[in-house]
Amino acid sequence: MRVLVTGGAGFIGSNFIRHALQVHADWYITNLDKLTYAGNLENLRDIEGDSRYSFVKGDIADRQVVDSLFKENHFDVVVNFAAESHVDRSILDPAPFIDTNIKGTQVLLEAARHHGISKFVQVSTDEVYGSLGPGDPPFIEESLLQPNSPYAASKAAADMMVRAYCRTYGLPTIVTRCSNNYGPYQFPEKLIPLMITNALEDKPLPVYGDGQNVRDWIHVEDHCRAIDLVIQGGQAGEVYNIGASCEMKNLDVVRAVLGVLGKPESLITFVPDRPGHDRRYAIDATKISKELGWKPRYRLLDALPELVRWYRDNETWWRRIKAGEYKNYYEKVYSRRSASVTASPKGK
Ligand code: NAD
Ligand code: TYD
Repeated sequence: MRVLVTGGAGFIGSNFIRHALQVHADWYITNLDKLTYAGNLENLRDIEGDSRYSFVKGDIADRQVVDSLFKENHFDVVVNFAAESHVDRSILDPAPFIDTNIKGTQVLLEAARHHGISKFVQVSTDEVYGSLGPGDPPFIEESLLQPNSPYAASKAAADMMVRAYCRTYGLPTIVTRCSNNYGPYQFPEKLIPLMITNALEDKPLPVYGDGQNVRDWIHVEDHCRAIDLVIQGGQAGEVYNIGASCEMKNLDVVRAVLGVLGKPESLITFVPDRPGHDRRYAIDATKISKELGWKPRYRLLDALPELVRWYRDNETWWRRIKAGEYKNYYEKVYSRRSASVTASPKGK
C-alpha cells in the first residue's frame, strides 16, 4: 500500500510513520512536509534509511508539488497531519492557518479527486467543537462545531471541506477528531513538553489564567493506533472522535510534572490568560471503540514518569530545538543525497 503522510516531520506525524513502518510490512510511506518551525527531521532519524520511507520537502498548499507527487506515486491512502497546530500562534497571526489548514487541505483533496485514492483521512481536533461547561457531557461526533480560536476555526473549515468532497464528488474521506496528545517528540511550545523542559532547566512554568482549564489527555501512540484502525476499517463519510477519557486541570498536570521531577511548586508562575481560552474539552470515543475495537492503553499520570524519562534521555533533541539548531539537519542530511529525493520524488 502506498501511503502519503503529510506533516510527518511533526510530533504526531513522526510517531505515526514510525508506528506504521513497524506494524505494516507492506506499506510504503511518502512524507510530504514543508519543514516549518514545527517540522524536525531529527524526529525521524532512526528510520530515514528505511527503503519503505521517503521524504519530500514541500507545501501541501502548492498545487504543482502536490499534483506531481500524486502523478508519480499512485497513492492508495492519504493521511493529512500537516497543519499549523498551535493556538497561541494562531492568536498572534491567523494567516498561515488559513493557508495551510484550509487551502492546503483543499489542494490535497483536489489532487486525491483527480488521481483517485481509496481513503483520505483528515486528522482533526476536538477543538472544533468549542468549549464545554463543567457539567456538560463530552463531545460526540454530532456535537455542534463552535470553534473559538483561529486555529480551531481553520480546522473546522477544513473538516467541512473534507465532508463536501465526500458528498459532492464521492471521495472516500474520513475525519478523526482527537483530544490533546502527549508523548515523545512533541514540540516544546505545547503544555506538557514545555513544562517538563522548563522544569529540567529550573525555569518558570507559565500557567495561563487560574490553571483550572481542563484538557482530555491521550498518549500519541493511542492516537496513532486509532488512525491506523480508521485507515483499515473506517467508513467513508464518517467522523470518529478519539480520546482516552482522561480529563485533567492544567494546574494538576503541571503539579504532576513537578512531582515526577522532584522540583518545587515555586517554579509555577501564573501569567495572563490566553484570549478566548476554552475552559474544558472532553471526548466521547464510544463510536470508534464500538465500530473499530479501539481502546486506549495509556493514562497520563501512569505514563508521565516514562515520558519525563524520555525528555531527560533526549536532552540534546529538545535543547537543539530551543536553540534553533534543528533547522540545519535537513540541509546536512538531504543536500548530500540526489536531487530526486528532495525535488522530484520517485515512485516506489
Ligand atoms: P506539529 O505542529 O508538531 O506538526 C505539524 C507538521 O506539519 C510539521 O512537521 C510542519 O512542518 C508540517 N507543516 C506545516 N505546514 C505545512 C504545509 N503547508 N505543508 C506541509 N507540511 C506542513 O503538529 P502535531 O501536534 O503533530 O499535529 C498534527 C495534526 O494533528 C494537526 O493537523 C493537528 O491539528 C492535529 N491534532 C493535534 C493534536 C495535538 O494535541 N497535538 C490533537 C488533535 C489533533
Ligand atoms: P496547549 O498545549 O497549547 O494545547 P491546546 O491549547 O491546543 O489545548 O495548551 C494546553 C492547555 O495548557 C491550554 O489550556 C493552555 C494551557 N497552557 C498554559 O497554561 N501555559 C502554557 O505555557 C501553554 C503552552 C499552555
